[in-house]
Amino acid sequence: MKVQVDRRDGLTAAADVAAVGVFERPEKDDTFPRSLQREDELLHGLVKAAWARKEVKGRRKELKGEITVFHRPDGKGRLLLVGLGPRSKFTVDVVRRAAAEVVKGVKGKGARTVAFCLPSFVAENVRGEAAVAALTEGAILGSYQFQKYQATTEGQVEEATIHLGEEFSRDEATLKKVAAGQAALDDVVLWSREIANLPADTASPQRLAEEALALGKEFGLKVSVFDEKKLAEMGCGGLLAVGGGSASHPPRMVVLEYPGGARRGRTVAVVGKGITFDSGGISIKDAPGMQEMKFDKSGAVAVLGILRAAATLKVPPRVIGVMCCAENVPSGTSYRPGDVVRSYNGKTIEVLNTDAEGRVVLSDGLGYVVKQYRPDEVIDIATLTGSQVTALGDDTAGLISNDDRLAEGLLAASVVSGEPIWRMPLTDYHRELVKSEIADVRNSTEIPVAGMLTAAAFLETFVGTTPWAHLDIVGPAWTSARTWKFQPAYQNKGATAFTVRLVTRYLEAAPLRA
Ligand code: BES
Ligand code: ZN
Ligand code: ZN
Repeated sequence: MKVQVDRRDGLTAAADVAAVGVFERPEKDDTFPRSLQREDELLHGLVKAAWARKEVKGRRKELKGEITVFHRPDGKGRLLLVGLGPRSKFTVDVVRRAAAEVVKGVKGKGARTVAFCLPSFVAENVRGEAAVAALTEGAILGSYQFQKYQATTEGQVEEATIHLGEEFSRDEATLKKVAAGQAALDDVVLWSREIANLPADTASPQRLAEEALALGKEFGLKVSVFDEKKLAEMGCGGLLAVGGGSASHPPRMVVLEYPGGARRGRTVAVVGKGITFDSGGISIKDAPGMQEMKFDKSGAVAVLGILRAAATLKVPPRVIGVMCCAENVPSGTSYRPGDVVRSYNGKTIEVLNTDAEGRVVLSDGLGYVVKQYRPDEVIDIATLTGSQVTALGDDTAGLISNDDRLAEGLLAASVVSGEPIWRMPLTDYHRELVKSEIADVRNSTEIPVAGMLTAAAFLETFVGTTPWAHLDIVGPAWTSARTWKFQPAYQNKGATAFTVRLVTRYLEAAPLRA
């Protein structure tokens, strides 16, 4: 999907579809909106008639905008009205969603080009620049589909043009830059989704390592891949234990280094859980839904995406990416409940449940990056616990942090990117629950409470006092049939690449060293 900015008016453009946003009127006010006057003239009074029949109301229902399509008598394709809901509830996320709804709404219906009429997507609380960014993002993300394994695909919009019209034509240069910057980031998101959607037979730990090597080559980044032999020398007992059950797909730790765009940039480490398939291992999972466990690598894929975005957008800080990759399957060589494994930093882990494997592989990655790079801060990203979904649902990730500044920075970035996260507490109670009688920590607790937070307490053991934030992303990392109805149209079935945009926005705004 290509996104452009054009100073001309959207209604005069020669696009297959001209898209116009419509606000919902306050109840009892059924006057025809003045903003639709020109559209109505173009349609010889049809828009007004549709409004009078209450066919067009500008509403949003089940989080989706009402869509009305008119065929233009001037032969210039279609006019599409998309509901934005009431002005009082208008946000950039409504624009982002609406753009995706438009692109999705005309899919398979012979439309190759869409013209967004910018002034109709702007209000007091969403200004021109924000609306341009959101339209760009919605159009790009909403057009994505995982099609790698399909011979025939539905025709879809290939080009979206944001038309400024008289009102915004003066800002053309700025708005062009905004759209280009946003598109660069969203293209990285699609690239990440494509990798995250790959099935486990293809996206093995080695394949993820190869993706990292290719990325390094493309952007001139240093990339190191540690195979099982090297991991044994290094003492990465966590990765070796979790990955030990897989004969065909041995574990890998991958480290990527982006040098940073600013002289006084800080060093930020991002560490991702890359379980290419999580069957649970010996503590095996139920069959229903197990196919979704190919998405258990989403954290590591997000790290790949963040490094690509950092290098593309040349963010100020130095960024170290660590991907902890392994396949968790049962076999005669699998690790077992009761085993004690030694992590990179020397701490021992009592394994009580082989399905709590994410924290075990992350222990090596966190310990390694903290010791080798002494980063100013560490962010880990992981599809870590079912408890995250129980606590916060499918749309909002859990944030646990030992550092208020870092946590607030991530929360602010999440507002910008539109990827919701919510901070949760970490207390001595959670720390107590992960203490082991025979090792330094245990990977699962005796009583099943606060699973997301006890997992965080476990991880904390491996970062020491380094400012650290943990993002538990099970819910938002992919969309499942169960939750599909409620997803914004800019997500698609399968992987969402959640946190790529958020962490990149955070890195763009990260403070310099004092
Ligand atoms: N990858 C899973 C988390 C998960 C659970 C993802 C459900 C999607 C749906 C993780 O490795 C896991 O199995 N966590 C366990 C931990 C427990 C055994 C302590 C969980 O959350 O149930
Ligand atoms: Zn698991
Ligand atoms: Zn897992």
